[in-house]
Amino acid sequence: IRTDALARIASAASAEALDRVRVAFLGKQGEISLLLKTLGRMDAAERQRAGPLLNGLRTEVADAIAARKEVIDSAAMDRQLANEAIDLSLPVLPEAVGCVHPVSQVMDELAEIFADLGFLVASGPEIEDDWHNFTALNMPESHPARAMHDTFYFPDQDAQGRDMLLRTHTSPVQIRAMVADGAPVRIIAPGRTYRSDSDATHTPMFHQVEGLVIDRDIHMGHLKWTLETFLKAFFERDDIVLRLRPSYFPFTEPSAEVDVGFSFQNGRRVIGGSGDTAGHGWLEVLGSGMVNRRVIDACDLDPDEWQGFAFGCGIDRLAMLKYGMSDLRSFFDGDLRWLRHYGFAA
Ligand code: PHE
Repeated sequence: IRTDALARIASAASAEALDRVRVAFLGKQGEISLLLKTLGRMDAAERQRAGPLLNGLRTEVADAIAARKEVIDSAAMDRQLANEAIDLSLPVLPEAVGCVHPVSQVMDELAEIFADLGFLVASGPEIEDDWHNFTALNMPESHPARAMHDTFYFPDQDAQGRDMLLRTHTSPVQIRAMVADGAPVRIIAPGRTYRSDSDATHTPMFHQVEGLVIDRDIHMGHLKWTLETFLKAFFERDDIVLRLRPSYFPFTEPSAEVDVGFSFQNGRRVIGGSGDTAGHGWLEVLGSGMVNRRVIDACDLDPDEWQGFAFGCGIDRLAMLKYGMSDLRSFFDGDLRWLRHYGFAA
């Protein structure tokens, strides 16, 4: 039995074959198991002789099976490793890798720059009502500024009887921030805005970032410093020069449009330096002003206690200036070649 068992164990080529050998000798009806059962029927002397022999045989066969099993398993593991081996010297196949769109990239940059100045990022709905988009911003019904916004209106009113529209600017987020959280406020609100307008510099959907600071004793110096700090960080230059031009917005008083100086380098506009230098120019980048007390009042805050400044800035415009793109419409064509050309896609 011993020779037979050891020979069959040695020649078992797989885990399954080895298990069949185990059952044949050590299973319930296995040859060795059956022999062990005969011990009970032997007389004492016989048992004393046969017992150790049979138990030794069982142990020897069990050990041989275990040893063989290890050999079979490790051979199987070697085969598997060889099959799954990766050839690191093979060149990687080119793969389409996604990238961050320039507009999203600028939004991320804005959030980072203003986070350093203590601003939180706020947001509001793109489908607005005319109270938030106009009325609370000191543009009552029939205010001429409403007509200038080329507003997309929805056919139906909301539950409170307000006209619904696609927000024409991010300024309604000023209202939402003050109504929701009171004062003080220090937020920026980047997002999509809509006006019925389309040419090389206007798309019906575009992006703005709103800024709002409401606190005690805020004045125009804070506004100018904030814009200067922001634009220097954004364009990564120290020689940014701002020009504030008196302007008019219903929701700010006084109001200022802000220009940055630029020069031409290789026929490209480069932001920096005074626009009054020979060969330089000024480029309007944003609207701003001290928040009109009527706006603060509309948000149920006391304008004698709380003052602040606000600004609104075209994000697509900022991206075009920073990355040198010329046609706003191509931002929204989804053309990979365009993204590649400006280094935004591999
Ligand atoms: N909402 C104005 C616009 O879209 C910009 C602006 C925002 C001006 C805040 C002043 C203060 O033109």
